[in-house]
Amino acid sequence: MLENMTTLKNNQPKIANQNLIAWVQEMAALCKPTSVHWCDGSETENQSLCDLMVQSGTFIKLNEKKRPGSYLARSHPSDVARVEDRTFICSQTAAEAGPTNNWADPVKMKAELLARFKGCMAGRTMYVIPFAMGPLASPICKIGIEITDSPYVVVNMRIMTRMGKSVLDKLGTDSEFIPCVHSVGAPLAPGQKDVAWPCEPDPKKKYIVHFPDDPSIWSYGSGYGGNALLGKKCLALRIASTVAKREGWMAEHMLILGVESPSNKKYYVAAAFPSACGKTNLAMMQPTLPGWKVTTLGDDIAWIRVGKDGQLWAMNPETGFFGVAPGTSAKSNPHALTSCAKNTVFTNVVLTPDNDIWWEDMGVPAPATGIDWEGNPWTPTSGKKGAHANSRFTAPASQCPVIDPAWQSPEGVPLSAILFGGRRPGTIPLVNEAFDWEHGVFMGSACGSETTAAALGTAGVLRRDPFAMLPFCGYNMGDYFAHWLSFAKKTDRSKLPKVFFVNWFRRSAEGKFLWPGYGDNSRVLKWICERVEGTGKAQTTPIGHIPTRDALDLSGLNISGDDLAELLKVDLAGWQTEIADVAANYAKFGDKLPPALNAQLDSLKQRIG
Ligand code: OXD
Ligand code: MN
Repeated sequence: MLENMTTLKNNQPKIANQNLIAWVQEMAALCKPTSVHWCDGSETENQSLCDLMVQSGTFIKLNEKKRPGSYLARSHPSDVARVEDRTFICSQTAAEAGPTNNWADPVKMKAELLARFKGCMAGRTMYVIPFAMGPLASPICKIGIEITDSPYVVVNMRIMTRMGKSVLDKLGTDSEFIPCVHSVGAPLAPGQKDVAWPCEPDPKKKYIVHFPDDPSIWSYGSGYGGNALLGKKCLALRIASTVAKREGWMAEHMLILGVESPSNKKYYVAAAFPSACGKTNLAMMQPTLPGWKVTTLGDDIAWIRVGKDGQLWAMNPETGFFGVAPGTSAKSNPHALTSCAKNTVFTNVVLTPDNDIWWEDMGVPAPATGIDWEGNPWTPTSGKKGAHANSRFTAPASQCPVIDPAWQSPEGVPLSAILFGGRRPGTIPLVNEAFDWEHGVFMGSACGSETTAAALGTAGVLRRDPFAMLPFCGYNMGDYFAHWLSFAKKTDRSKLPKVFFVNWFRRSAEGKFLWPGYGDNSRVLKWICERVEGTGKAQTTPIGHIPTRDALDLSGLNISGDDLAELLKVDLAGWQTEIADVAANYAKFGDKLPPALNAQLDSLKQRIG
């Protein structure tokens, strides 16, 4: 092994952590790259990687005047989304992973991975990325080291995480790190020409594997998004959820926002919605209600712990947005457009003739001609979408014009409310407040949504997605529900945030959306703040506290009385179906389902009648 290392080009800085050096050497001996590059996270390094990718065809430099410092990448058509059926949790037993995860035996899986990774970086550089999830001074900051053969991953990780030298410094001689190994799975034979987006096209040969007991992460065959940027879904959710359970905090699939009233009262809210239900839009919302302000702390992940004052404090472990491009417009999310106005990586969107980018529902006219996400000539009349439905922008959070001043605070911010939601055409009202914490946990466990393009699979069917964590909980979800319930004992109940269920997507019998959404969701946030203050008017219904018809501030909004009634209606027949469906989902968890949740379901059944 050492022989190999002496001939390998390696810019290893002075490192005090012997475990790290030994592990990187071991990985280099396994993967057999041509060279090893330790990332320092500097601007110079970033620029040289971008230039390298322009040369290799992975990146197209965008118009510097229109989109400074930005690039377009096009992935391989087989590599466009998270691959849930190839995502594994390798705990000691299948029961620990639970019925919602793909479990695989850790010993067998390690052997399979070692075979795949053997020589997998031939002809490529192995990059070593030191990264931190959370501000370095946060009490729950976690350090990961991602090894990857993809410069695209390095450039994206630099936007999405705190990355480079400061993290190595923090690691010191003996701090722990989470090893994350990634390869695109496309070794090059001597003299073989590379392609723009190397990956393993055979879906059965892709692996996104988590070993919660190590903990470690191994990802093979995909270069896209959550499959490859291992700090995000793999570390900050799947692995972190297991660590959080052990250490007594929560790693959640939640945005965090601040909402400030015209009289300068400020509240912090976290919200969990399944993938592509508008978390980024809500996180950066421009309120239509005069005088109200929304500020952004994060759009995808929240790490939450009990603070010294007994309140729940939330922190965003990321530093960037990996947002879905199609549908992002001046109407749906003007602040996201500003966030990606410069220094952004776009993946799988349309290239315009002036070297800028475009996507469907961007709110600006389509270019007369362009190049689509697959690299083919495209026009608006081509009969197919120019941008992939799961095309993305990777943009620095610091560029968000409404970023909250506390977004990098090591302590995080105290939560006044937690929202759950989903894309639900029927039954679920616009907003519904839980009776208490246990009822709120029940609401979270009953989350569901119509599926979208964020993961491979059929779009448009109702999928139960408890706490929006179905693809992201690294252990048995029955135990996860119990962990949520346990917070009523970890602190004084009165300090816990109020819990709400929201649904911006309810439709009329004719299929029309009943609620305008976007900036008008500030009307719902206002009511939530009033409920926190104890002033908001509500009617108690069998399903929770719902605003009275005059409780929502609808000034300046043109909405019919009938539509409002429908939005706030408790549809008893719909709830009977809902209860049966939640019960069927609960059945999966067997005796791992906390009795408190069965009790919630039973009392809801009784209240509905
Ligand atoms: C995401 C997702 O990419 O939830 O954030 O799928
Ligand atoms: Mn997400």
